[in-house]
Amino acid sequence: MIESKTQVAIIGGGPSGMLLSLLLHQEGIDNVVLERSTRAHVLSRIRAGVLEWSTVELLRRAGIGKRMDREGHVHNGTQVAWGGEHTLLFDINTYTGRHLMAYGQTAITEDLYQAHDALGSEVHHQVEQVELHELTGQPFVTYTQDGQTHRLNCDAIAGCDGFHGVSRGSIPANVQRNFEKVYPFGWLGILSETPPLDDIWYIQHPDGFALASQRNPMLSRYYVQCDLNDRPEDWSDERFWQTLLERMPPKLAAQVVTGPSIEKSIAPLRSFVTEPMRYGQLFLVGDAAHIVPPTGAKGLNLAMSDVYYLWRALVGRYRHNSEDLVDRYSQVALKRVWDTTRFSWWVTTLLHRFPDQTDFDLRTRLSELQYLSDSPVAMHQLAEQYGGFPIEDWG
Ligand code: FAD
Ligand code: DHB
Repeated sequence: MIESKTQVAIIGGGPSGMLLSLLLHQEGIDNVVLERSTRAHVLSRIRAGVLEWSTVELLRRAGIGKRMDREGHVHNGTQVAWGGEHTLLFDINTYTGRHLMAYGQTAITEDLYQAHDALGSEVHHQVEQVELHELTGQPFVTYTQDGQTHRLNCDAIAGCDGFHGVSRGSIPANVQRNFEKVYPFGWLGILSETPPLDDIWYIQHPDGFALASQRNPMLSRYYVQCDLNDRPEDWSDERFWQTLLERMPPKLAAQVVTGPSIEKSIAPLRSFVTEPMRYGQLFLVGDAAHIVPPTGAKGLNLAMSDVYYLWRALVGRYRHNSEDLVDRYSQVALKRVWDTTRFSWWVTTLLHRFPDQTDFDLRTRLSELQYLSDSPVAMHQLAEQYGGFPIEDWG
């Protein structure tokens, strides 16, 4: 058994774990990241693409905003199309003064790993059998790496290991409450080396949702709603483009440049929240504690606000000898989680086709889109939520 010690053990080297680690290092708080996959695998994941302004500001504050500011694409909101001819801007800028930034999670993760390389921080990849111990006392983590067993003693554990990690399951069932909604469809996403549309587009169509997004001037990201049982191999490029273009208004479809896909994957859609987000010295962060369906582009942004709260709480503990923010972490993070969970559920319901949907359901959705087009009050309310719920200022 190889034994070592740190202040904060961070489980998971995705965006949550790596950003938290970087911010803590910058405050002189010692930490170690344990990641199950290889670095190449973490860096190859294609996921989020759209950032709220509070996330943009947090990444700048962490010193990793330069490439994002150079290569990211700033938007006033997201365009929505339905009925073959109607369009509407989910207008964040007019009503809140804020923007969105199109900048891929893959690029953020690269920026984070580069910053860690420069710092020489401790990030261990391909760790196995991670187990968390003594969470309500003096905690420690055990794991194996290259056939060796390790014990990492620590004061606190940040569970940043995503929806399928070990952290959430380390909380006893009798103190944990889970809330879940599984949607009866998925998203098939592709990347193609073609110039994207100028804007991000959500498309509501009686056959199902579609989305046009962007990564850089020669890299496009598109999604179509698909059946839960579909596999990527069921979708040839030809079938994908045909489905996408059929769902778009003809004028928009005419602007799409098609080409071979370089990546194709299916994501199921789910809303999930666990409460509490703290148990003893374990703090859950990001997808380890909550999942939202990707409509609304909130998952990574929510993970980043958790990171912000936990970072400030641990700075309070180690630099100011105060447990106040540590004690408030779960409650404050969950308030924002539920606001965002409700918004993501609402926008998913508005824009998707449900298998049991009736003509009545469809008409009420179209009526809501029309109401959003006609009423500045309704749009103001949407803009406030879509631009990002307030993050309580913890300094
Ligand atoms: P993860 O990214 O899941 O990272 C967790 C890490 O922990 C992984 O590296 C994993 O390998 C590691 N790990 C797991 N188990 C263990 C273990 N036992 N031991 C050690 N390590 C472990 N969000 C947005 O805000 N905007 C968007 O536009 C958006 N679009 C999306 C589109 C799609 C198709 C999908 C699927 C998601 C999208 N999201 C979006 C959501 C976003 O990608 C996630 O919320 C984000 O990845 C969460 O980051 P995380 O670090 O908390 O978790
Ligand atoms: C992406 C963009 C979105 O607006 C969204 O809701 C989900 C994903 C993307 O670019 O991947």
